[in-house]
Amino acid sequence: MSDWTKSDWRKKPRIQMPDYTDEAALHAVEAQLSKYPPLVFAGEARRLKTLLADASRGEAFLLQGGDCAEAFDQFSADGIRDTFKVMLQMSMVLTFGAKVPVIKLGRMAGQFAKPRSAPTETVNGVELPSYRGDIINELAFTPEARIPDPKKMLQAYTQAAATLNLLRAFSTGGFADMHRVHSWTLGFADGNGAEKYREIAARIQDTLDFMYAAGIDSDTTHEFSTVEFYTSHESLLLEYEEALTRVDSTTGKWLAGSGHMIWIGDRTRQPDGAHVEFARGVQNPIGLKCGPSMTTDDLKVLMAKLNPENEPGRLSLIARFGAGTVAEHLPRLINTVREEGAEVTWVCDAMHGNTIKSSTGYKTRPFDSVLREVREFFGVHAAEGTVPGGVHFEMTGQDVTECTGGVRAVTEEDLSDRYHTACDPRLNASQSLELAFLVAEELSDLRTARKKARAAS
Ligand code: PEP
Ligand code: CO
Repeated sequence: MSDWTKSDWRKKPRIQMPDYTDEAALHAVEAQLSKYPPLVFAGEARRLKTLLADASRGEAFLLQGGDCAEAFDQFSADGIRDTFKVMLQMSMVLTFGAKVPVIKLGRMAGQFAKPRSAPTETVNGVELPSYRGDIINELAFTPEARIPDPKKMLQAYTQAAATLNLLRAFSTGGFADMHRVHSWTLGFADGNGAEKYREIAARIQDTLDFMYAAGIDSDTTHEFSTVEFYTSHESLLLEYEEALTRVDSTTGKWLAGSGHMIWIGDRTRQPDGAHVEFARGVQNPIGLKCGPSMTTDDLKVLMAKLNPENEPGRLSLIARFGAGTVAEHLPRLINTVREEGAEVTWVCDAMHGNTIKSSTGYKTRPFDSVLREVREFFGVHAAEGTVPGGVHFEMTGQDVTECTGGVRAVTEEDLSDRYHTACDPRLNASQSLELAFLVAEELSDLRTARKKARAAS
């Protein structure tokens, strides 16, 4: 984009970003980060865009998931491996159940900065600035911990680089080989989903054995032995994003080098604000969160700004309305997209509209509301004749108790057992798997209904 530079966002109103007090320290960090290698490459981001374009036509399906907020003190190889495993399992369930290729996109390797609903937090009469993610300040409730420190960007970069390194190794180094489909289960993940998963794994194993016997060498076929895994995060801390933005030498276009896809949050999507200004100039696929307050006029302006060439795969609209309100909001946005003739990929974030406070004081999400929002999303697309392109979840491979419900029911009293999130409540491994089965069913029902309708016409 010739009328754009990576620091133009600085001239626009910014919200949800820290005011760093030590400017010299901030500049030093920015200078250092600008010299570091980008984490992702332009060819990869372009490939993801092509896949998301497939998803917009129903020829692929996006599975986007991971932590609400990655945290420095929870960083471990096992944590990354287990989330990766659950995403592989979920994607097997979807591929097998709905016969559709699945795009695996982690909320990982950069998901550190958090928008907050209030600038301060009060505990026992003491008021302090809110925690904004480990890349900005610290969760501990002390005045020192809540001071934004630019040096945290360097630690976030290091953690993101190490995370991505491991993800790349898992994706291509044999771990994700389909012959290991049985080994992706997690010890604690029992219940309905786990049992159904074992059945699918057995059938996949059978198919692979059949192919081998028939002379198709699935051992060496690339598609069976590796996966493509992409990364994404909210592009919130623009100093960090700018410092990792580079010109891609093959096309001369800008690339946000911090992750394959970046998204704009529901709180920072003002059409004339800093976050939209930054995202519009980079060539990565862009996600745009759409909550109940998204007006049709804003959506029009945002689509024109963020995807002026109407390129398929460039813009994903991530709907997050809350169970019970999808039918009120999604049809009007679908109409706007239709009127504008805009190319978008529709994605359902069934988490962020369903956050409540439990009677025991924890921020939680009833699993039933999550399932219900997914069903409503599919229902509206079925009625409108449009394409549900993917789902977006906060989840983890760890056996946490953060969302209530599920087959191994987590109650409000259980929440305190293993509540580890630094921000929003995540689905645990069993809940994630259960959800994948529901999505597979919805997708496959929709395909059958559309096939029938085509045959009848
Ligand atoms: C998030 O995805 O963590 C988030 C804050 O979402 P939203 O902007 O949709 O509230
Ligand atoms: Co969240």
